[in-house]
Amino acid sequence: MIKYIGSKRRLVPVLGDLFATSGARTALDLFTGTTRVAQEFKRRGAVVTAVDTARYSEIFAKCWIEASADDVSGAELAAALARLSGLPPAAGYFTETFCKQSRFFQPHNGARIDAIRNEIESEYAGSALYPMLLTSLILAADRVDSTTGLQMAYLKEWAPRAYNDLELRPPELIEGRGAAIRGDAAELAPTLGPFDFAYLDPPYNQHRYFTNYHVFETLVAWDEPEVYGVACKRIDSRDPSTKSVFNQKRNMPDALRSTIKALEAEVLVVSYNNEAWISLDELCDMCSHHDRVTPLSFDSKRYVGAQIGIHNPSGKKVGKVSHLRNLEYVVVAGPKRTVETMTAPYDRGHDASASGLCHHAAGRRDPRGLRSGMAIERSYG
Ligand SMILES: C[S@@+](CC[C@H](N)C(=O)[O-])C[C@H]1O[C@@H](n2cnc3c(N)ncnc32)[C@H](O)[C@@H]1O
Repeated sequence: MIKYIGSKRRLVPVLGDLFATSGARTALDLFTGTTRVAQEFKRRGAVVTAVDTARYSEIFAKCWIEASADDVSGAELAAALARLSGLPPAAGYFTETFCKQSRFFQPHNGARIDAIRNEIESEYAGSALYPMLLTSLILAADRVDSTTGLQMAYLKEWAPRAYNDLELRPPELIEGRGAAIRGDAAELAPTLGPFDFAYLDPPYNQHRYFTNYHVFETLVAWDEPEVYGVACKRIDSRDPSTKSVFNQKRNMPDALRSTIKALEAEVLVVSYNNEAWISLDELCDMCSHHDRVTPLSFDSKRYVGAQIGIHNPSGKKVGKVSHLRNLEYVVVAGPKRTVETMTAPYDRGHDASASGLCHHAAGRRDPRGLRSGMAIERSYG
């Protein structure tokens, strides 16, 4: 999977468990990004709808969420990837822009990306293989880039991985049904649903995905845009239509409130982080039209293999908890019984060590005020 800011990689097992214990059959992932959370819901049997404004997200969602593994023959996919891998390099716009004007990729990989991307467009546009081939190319490019994971800048010295040869691998498809929708969550919210379960992981600060992942936007759009600045960002980055209300400090709280309100979902699960412009209290209030609202918190900054720290509901420290700034919050809202069932494992000091996460109960207050080891009142509403 691509390097992606705000990706919920470590929370995936927890979110999957919350989905499973809710008893839901349909799920919405409204800010799907890499689609890794939507994929987990689908693996657990959900019919999933995945929504995002990003072009690459839509491609990922068409590959992993909309398509079923049995729609595509593995042999056919492997043959197409082998054919694309064997194409002679053909330096073009991508090489010129992202390997010469800027240095996101080495030219030997850029010229192969140009050749492969052109062939995907001319030979596979409209075919069932198209999103799989494009997904494979994006993931391959990500493995040989020279960034820290954001495309606002590239490294001064080439990253060691940039010297590797681009390698196309088949994406692992998932059986089942789903839908991929590209669009604005705030606009779409009233038109989607009903869902048994909705998961929201919006941006909570000014960092724009459109500019942070502009190379992938262009790789999908394949529209040779005019670019500006050292990072060769797309000129339409300046266009208001590419700006998200969730990156605007003044407008984000109202937008999130009305998006949450407009969703037709039995159970709502919202990710939150402590760099957000709103407080945990505010977020819980936004969910308060549901019977019960329970925030959970997870400490995601741990050494792999370390003994995790868990705090039981009475506040007793039964393990080690690391820095506050790495807390991840998950607000669970819905019918009282359902929310109690979903959050019960965490009341008992559930060991989520497999995911590298340590749970401790979150109080209804600004997370910046929480201390390690605080376990205060969890459920209300
Ligand atoms: C925190 S990331 C989601 C990460 C995702 N849960 C994952 O694990 O990969 C937020 C996502 O919201 C998307 N986004 C930003 N503004 C949006 C909007 N107005 N409507 C829909 N999606 C939006 C971004 O493109 C980004 O993919």
